[in-house]
Amino acid sequence: MKRVFSGIQPTGEIHIGNYLGAIRNWVKIGEQIGKEAIFCIVDYHAITIPHEAKQLPQLTFDAALANMAAGLDPNKITLFAQSHVREHVELGWVFTTQTPLGDLERMTQFKDKSEQHSILAGLLMYPVLQAADILLYKADTVPVGEDQIQHIELTREIARRFNYRFASESQPIFPEPKASIDKNAARVLGLDGAGKMSKSKGNTIGVLEPQETIWQNIRVAPTDPARVRRTDPGNPDVCVMFAYHKLFSSLENIEMVNTECRRAGIGCVDCKKLLMQGIWQELEPIQAKAAYLQDHPNEVTDALVSGADYCRGIAQDTMLEVREAIGLLPLESRRPS
Ligand code: TYM
Repeated sequence: MKRVFSGIQPTGEIHIGNYLGAIRNWVKIGEQIGKEAIFCIVDYHAITIPHEAKQLPQLTFDAALANMAAGLDPNKITLFAQSHVREHVELGWVFTTQTPLGDLERMTQFKDKSEQHSILAGLLMYPVLQAADILLYKADTVPVGEDQIQHIELTREIARRFNYRFASESQPIFPEPKASIDKNAARVLGLDGAGKMSKSKGNTIGVLEPQETIWQNIRVAPTDPARVRRTDPGNPDVCVMFAYHKLFSSLENIEMVNTECRRAGIGCVDCKKLLMQGIWQELEPIQAKAAYLQDHPNEVTDALVSGADYCRGIAQDTMLEVREAIGLLPLESRRPS
């Protein structure tokens, strides 16, 4: 890992799927490679579905704050907002011109989202901008949840195609980045147990959500449907609460729940209370840090300013290469010879 890039959309509260599937790994990677771990609040992606212009600046700030609260330390890693480095859009356009429409139409996230929203051209181009995000920094590793794998595959394809057309075989311009997935939390389930946790499905546990509302949601969340009475034995393998225990509880508690649920030794409410303890142990320090940052907003805005400054340098170097490779007239030239 020489340089790592990943991003998150500022589309509302950050949930434990984002945290466990991505941000927690980002923090670990940051410990290893410092500044070359680059994380981005992707506001240009957020406008590919209808958005409230008045809310977006706050959402972008909040997303940065939540990431810092969750452990990203801008004194170690690099954190910035996508729109503060214009080269993302420039490279996105270059890649748009080189990407077959069919590649974009078969993206499953595009198909899902286009059922929920009107299809803006930007929604189709979304993965091209994502490829530009990653390749602008020539990142080799992209830590994400499972739902992003297809986009990273396309990024590799875009890099390969670009190198083939515009670079020599011995000196490719772009590396082919690899997705890095935390196997334990590749696809965190939603509270309804019906599919992955996702804001659009309203089945989330927010990282900054008050303890009380988290508990209310967990209290009423479905468990093993076959376990109707307290005396019925349950099957943890089909229960989303057990999936959460595996993410938040001690090994000892996981073992205990696994055994006792199966022989009706503990009821669902006891199991959920124990889970809540595990969740709160993880989230409480994050929320304390978030409260601190709310009182010190300059720490967030300063981080974004210096993050963007650092990234702009790298991005401009890449664009010089790209512009030359595809045959754009350099601004400083007098006349092409
Ligand atoms: P976004 O904002 O939807 O999600 C941010 C990260 O959280 C992960 N994630 C999950 N992981 C496990 N279980 C879940 N239920 C879950 N829900 C979300 C996502 O996989 C992601 O890693 N397209 C990206 C943003 C992006 C990006 C990039 C990512 C734009 N440019 C460049 C990497 C590199 C997205 O919508 O993430």
